[in-house]
Amino acid sequence: MLKGKTVVLGVCGSIAAYKIANLASMLVKLNADVHVIMTQNATNFINPITFETLTNNKCIVDTFDRNFEFSVMHVSLAKAADVFMVAPASANVLGKVASGIADDMLTTTLMASRAPIIFAPAMNTGMYENKIVQDNIHKLKSFSYEVIEPDSGFLACKDIGKGKMPDPEILLEYIIQTIAYEKDLKGKKILVSAGATKEAIDPVRYITNHSSGKMGYAIACAAARRGANVTLISAKANLKTPLFLKKIDVVSAADMKECIQNEFDSCDALIMAAAVADYKPKDVADHKIKKSEDDLSIKLCRTDDILATIATQKKSQFVCGFSMETENLVENSKKKLVKKNLDMIAANNLNQEGAGFEVDTNVITLITKDDITRLPIMSKEEVAHKILDRIKENI
Ligand code: CTP
Repeated sequence: MLKGKTVVLGVCGSIAAYKIANLASMLVKLNADVHVIMTQNATNFINPITFETLTNNKCIVDTFDRNFEFSVMHVSLAKAADVFMVAPASANVLGKVASGIADDMLTTTLMASRAPIIFAPAMNTGMYENKIVQDNIHKLKSFSYEVIEPDSGFLACKDIGKGKMPDPEILLEYIIQTIAYEKDLKGKKILVSAGATKEAIDPVRYITNHSSGKMGYAIACAAARRGANVTLISAKANLKTPLFLKKIDVVSAADMKECIQNEFDSCDALIMAAAVADYKPKDVADHKIKKSEDDLSIKLCRTDDILATIATQKKSQFVCGFSMETENLVENSKKKLVKKNLDMIAANNLNQEGAGFEVDTNVITLITKDDITRLPIMSKEEVAHKILDRIKENI
């Protein structure tokens, strides 16, 4: 994902420095060329050899032994960087950069760099909340530096409060968001539904389906990484909330319909990847469910067809649905395309290996009014990009 990209990591003196070994390793696994610059203080917390072993590049430390070409190195790394992340960023380095001070390898390279710069502050709560530190952060943000808000929690100094560096997985998300994809969906508002809706039978039981939400989440995440303004309307899905998008949680088909209706007018595309529970108890509102000791008798009725309703509101929006079939994939999906007034349907056969609910891959056929494209088995992330490529041509 990061092949051909150069990531420069600036590591300051903080106990959180050890977590950057993990970040460097994750970046290397995504094929990035990773360079690490440490402040002298950082070497008290982690050894430069750790980074050299993980990245295969010399780890630059500001020492007086002059065993590297300081003047060349700070400019060449500054130029090579596609993104520069300072993590953990100490109050000292934040203050120096905010004041235009460049007196060591890290701050000199930062000053010379034109790459996007991201700081992940990590420090004791008292330091973080200090007005001078806050003022420096404010100033950095006003000059378009990105500053990641620290987490709250149990800090190394045994205080509980704000100042914890976010996990390396989160830092990686920021790097991916900044450099992994061209922002070809910038300015577009994309609405994605995902997960499995639930219909209550009583306060304890409900009707739902096996959808994991993985396909819809992959689409929402991919669209956000491509710069779209994404709203993810999520029914039951046991997945981490992606960053860089707005997520709205819903439960039933009726909730999802209302939520989509509220957002639909202002969007450019709707991708309905949610698996809507097709049935709900008919009489639940009237408490007419009959319970005997051995059985529960419920009358079921269809839930509202969300897409069919939304189609009546359609102006210039591109609407893409999904269909899950066990037979006659293309024929049945084409019928749904017409019946629900869709622009595209991503059809998958539940009986096909590599397709379906819980797996990380999918095998889909993209069907429009005048085209049928069968895609080979690929990861849900790759499928997401294929769907977005087609949508991009039409919005
Ligand atoms: N869908 C919807 N509202 C429903 C049911 C489905 O908006 N009440 C959407 C799904 O999110 C999907 C598309 O319609 O994008 C097709 O869903 P699918 O379950 O394949 O079709 P159904 O219309 O439910 O028909 P059936 O289950 O009988 O095949």
